[in-house]
Amino acid sequence: MKYHLSTLVFLGIYTMSSCSYSEENIKKEVSNHLIMDSHTLSNYKELPIKHSHLDLEVDFENKLLRGSVTHNFNEDRDTDLLILDSKHLEIDSVKDHQGDHLNFEFGNFDELLGSKFSIQLYKESKSVTIFYKTTSKSEALDWLMPNQTAGKRFPFMYTQGQSIFTRSWIPIQDTPGLRITYSANIKTPKNMMAVMSASNPQVQHSENSYNFEMKQPIPPYLIALAVGNLQFKSVDYRTGVYAEPSMLDECVDELTDMGKMVDVAENLYGKYDWDRYDVIVLPPSFPFGGMENPRLTFATPTIIAGDRSLVSLIAHELAHSWSGNLVTNATWNDFWLNEGFTVYFERRIMESLYGKDYSEMLALLGYQDLVEEINDLEPDMQLLRLNMLGKHPDDAMTDIAYEKGYFFLRMLEDHVGREKMDSFLLRYFNDHKFKTIITEEFIIYLENNLLNEYNEKLNINEWIFEPGIPANCPKVKSVRFENAASLVDDFMFSDARSLKEKTANWSTHEWLHFIKHLPNNINVDQLRDLDNVFNFSHSGNSEILALWFLQSIKSDYQPAFENLEIFLIKIGRRKFLQPLYLELSKSKKHKIWAKEVYKKARDNYHYVSFNTIDKLLN
Ligand code: BES
Ligand code: ZN
Repeated sequence: MKYHLSTLVFLGIYTMSSCSYSEENIKKEVSNHLIMDSHTLSNYKELPIKHSHLDLEVDFENKLLRGSVTHNFNEDRDTDLLILDSKHLEIDSVKDHQGDHLNFEFGNFDELLGSKFSIQLYKESKSVTIFYKTTSKSEALDWLMPNQTAGKRFPFMYTQGQSIFTRSWIPIQDTPGLRITYSANIKTPKNMMAVMSASNPQVQHSENSYNFEMKQPIPPYLIALAVGNLQFKSVDYRTGVYAEPSMLDECVDELTDMGKMVDVAENLYGKYDWDRYDVIVLPPSFPFGGMENPRLTFATPTIIAGDRSLVSLIAHELAHSWSGNLVTNATWNDFWLNEGFTVYFERRIMESLYGKDYSEMLALLGYQDLVEEINDLEPDMQLLRLNMLGKHPDDAMTDIAYEKGYFFLRMLEDHVGREKMDSFLLRYFNDHKFKTIITEEFIIYLENNLLNEYNEKLNINEWIFEPGIPANCPKVKSVRFENAASLVDDFMFSDARSLKEKTANWSTHEWLHFIKHLPNNINVDQLRDLDNVFNFSHSGNSEILALWFLQSIKSDYQPAFENLEIFLIKIGRRKFLQPLYLELSKSKKHKIWAKEVYKKARDNYHYVSFNTIDKLLN
């Protein structure tokens, strides 16, 4: 049987009625370890891995990782079978701690989950060592040629584990429901540095061999590796930046507040538990804005705007050091527990550092995104607690998890007040640190630690188990945005030059609001007028550029297309690519153009992005 019974039982309970879960039942299921992640084929409940050691050589010529992984588990165990996840890996042999060969076999290949990889243990086997290599199909890995990097002289590679890609570079029990410690030895070519979500080097090693250790237990999707011609520079005593040498100073300058962000975050919700906090700024193919790999956030270079205007992304990834990395969603159905809490925490960090005016602009942009996106989502994808059975967990990455999750927590804050909310969250992180959690456990915890105590009756079930945005969703007001929107009207009745003075002190976010609110029927002459005065088509700010390009496609404003092509070829961040290609595919003429551009661009994208765009352009 592919999916565990309890998953089905859970689904049954919630489809029958929205408020019929029983505390008793859930506690029983949790304590009996019956909550199963449906996106792993492994036996992580029966025989969980405790520690993994990687010994890998990075082969840029053949674009593969080659070596071994050793998994340790508890010696007293009830089974002789260790079952792992694997996808597109070539397994050579498997031995135990004594060097005895172990038999293994693969289950049928599943397009979504890969293959079940079962290893037969001897009674006395204390660990397994798997000798293997990755293949060209390994989805986690992005291999870049020198010309795809900033320096153009050295190749580059990085991994992306979340959500179910770690199994494509490490045979492992690939589920967020498991926590392991890990160590690694990585061998690189000359002039290269390897960094991981672990203790990291700060200079290149002449012997081209790097050792790593992650002492805190983490879920396997957070194991990460990047190798390139990297250099490090400190920001403060516990924070710093890795980047290619030609970009390093610029990146450090952009991220100069990251030390303060850690301080502020600690003041809000407790001690930072991961020792150092560093950021690596990757080449532009990186498919996400950021990825919260512990100790070392992976970030897109598109946040390097020159004016520090996009650093909320760092606040977000840092906040995951609590929500996500300390307290982890036990299954991808509970993804909102990672992301909704993180957006809430992110905006609290931004408020502390830059003021409420600023963080409210972020919240309002988030709300607008939510309202826009929700119409395109099927009702079953509008719930905070999802059922991703049979679907790719990455499809849960919608504004429901992020923004509906955020507004749910903000609604709680509105009711109980900030002080109670903060002590609740502080306690929540503390009580669940280095643990995993499902939505139902969270609800019980919420009731016992916040709602019952203050006798609050809120529509929790509606928020979590029903589609749409509940009526008690907090309203966000931003005077700066109201002003920006009124200038859209001014512009429509005059010209762009008349806006110059009034917009002189605008932040990126006011511009975003302005561009978003340009009327749909705006004509090419008006866009040209705006472009001549504000030069949007050549903006150095990726968020402004992407929004401007979207408007330009809608209005077929041709002068922007030259730079749009350059953007699409260079940048691999899916959040930008998806809406642009989607808009392009709406007209026949644009779709033909888009397919031509995509031919040149596809090689510059990570699997996550080209898989999305492949489907979109069929
Ligand atoms: N953990 C996510 C990225 C992710 C989610 C990867 C799901 C794979 C599957 C990360 O923390 C994130 O949310 N990144 C956002 C930025 C953020 C500021 C909203 C992104 O990349 O856009
Ligand atoms: Zn996130």
